[in-house]
Amino acid sequence: MSENASIKLNDRNLEFPVIVGSEGEKAIDLRTLRSDSGGCITFDEGYGNTGSCVSNVTFIDGDAGILRYRGYPIEQLAQHSSFVETAYLVIHGELPTVEQYAAFSARLREQAGIHERMLHLFEGYPRDAHPMAILSAMVNSLACYDPHLATNDHNRDLENFEEASAIALSKVRTIAAVAYRMSRGLPVNYSNKDLKYCENFLHMMFSDPFSPYTASPEVARAMNLILLLHADHEQNCSTSTVRMVASSGANLFASTSAGISALWGPLHGGANVAVIGMLRSIHEQGDDGSRFIEAAKSGKARLMGFGHRVYKNFDPRAKIIAQGCEELLDSLGLTDPLLDIARRLAEAALDDPYFLERKLYPNVDFYSGIMMRAIGIPLNMFTVMFAIGRMPGWIANWHEVAADQNSRIYRPRQIYQGPVKREYVSIKERT
Ligand code: SDX
Repeated sequence: MSENASIKLNDRNLEFPVIVGSEGEKAIDLRTLRSDSGGCITFDEGYGNTGSCVSNVTFIDGDAGILRYRGYPIEQLAQHSSFVETAYLVIHGELPTVEQYAAFSARLREQAGIHERMLHLFEGYPRDAHPMAILSAMVNSLACYDPHLATNDHNRDLENFEEASAIALSKVRTIAAVAYRMSRGLPVNYSNKDLKYCENFLHMMFSDPFSPYTASPEVARAMNLILLLHADHEQNCSTSTVRMVASSGANLFASTSAGISALWGPLHGGANVAVIGMLRSIHEQGDDGSRFIEAAKSGKARLMGFGHRVYKNFDPRAKIIAQGCEELLDSLGLTDPLLDIARRLAEAALDDPYFLERKLYPNVDFYSGIMMRAIGIPLNMFTVMFAIGRMPGWIANWHEVAADQNSRIYRPRQIYQGPVKREYVSIKERT
């Protein structure tokens, strides 16, 4: 039996239907609130209580620490799947058959290179240009080399979705590697079509002339895990940005480029960089973490990699990646003092009422940087790794907007708090 929500407002009793999701989540459907109430809107700064869409891609239960892509638990995908297979699942909604996987993988290999003329665009950047700025610009620029895939007519763009999504997913990796090589004055490596997605990326990042880089199975597995764990995450800041831009009719490349920009911020995808900076600072100060935790509790510092808008329990990705860190470091015979500090911080914080009361637990960013360090990814490329990993989720969310024939442009309202009406004063009379 359907349920309604009642609101008494302006001496009116308003009734609104309640939407129930496949996992039992409830939302009050307020799409007629403004018209029914004579102009009243909701106010929910940061959208913490607001559903912007109905989506079929990812389910998160923040209290229970559950994350599923298209119904599959992240723990099972992390154990059994690869980034490319998971990307197929996130984008297409089902795990691929052998034939579907082969065709998808072939499309990604086919699209791994970038247009030769695009390489010249990189030359215009200063050597210390941030790779996220380059990534966002270059992903948007992909539309210039295949304008037939980016017409800004969603119906036409959907006809070429398989090609466009393969380009976005495959070339985001190549653009990242080219940005890295050029920032260091190193020769650009061309894609090797004989290599799998992650192995090819690491080859493009780290091979040198006459000295090809071959990722060990452990490093390739770690790279797959990092990207897989970031593949999608409901309506986070960057994915919501992708949907916002897509809702105007913008093409896949423009929309995902905007997502890259949103991800860059330190409260979102930039946190993995901030975590390493925090751990390094603690290490250099000879602090065992306790001083830093006190600073965080007094509001003088933020325990980066901790806390989450949705997870009020352990981020399931953090558990998986913490284990992945241990396994990778063991397999490489490496130790990392920052991992020791991270462990101590997590143990201390998880006993501390300040963090427990605020339900602040490690999130995916708390350990991911340590794993990337062990692989040899430079610090300023950590958020770029997050962007490569999140590309399948952005693509899937762009597709949901583009394929929704009832989709409307996102246009939130506001509550105006500025000056009320006043008359223009000429400059001579202003004091
Ligand atoms: C990602 O949304 C997603 O799904 C994101 C993501 C994804 O996959 O897309 O999961 C990826 O972005 C993970 C989060 C990475 N960011 C960080 O690790 C940065 C550190 N974390 C925080 O800045 C914070 O926890 C946020 C931004 C993640 C969440 O912020 P909220 O939900 O707005 O929480 P808040 O800032 O309102 O904090 C609530 C309270 C405050 O204390 P009081 O005012 O109640 O006293 O908790 C405190 C905050 O001061 N707090 C922290 C803290 N995070 C929150 N105190 C110390 N250290 C922290 N990390």
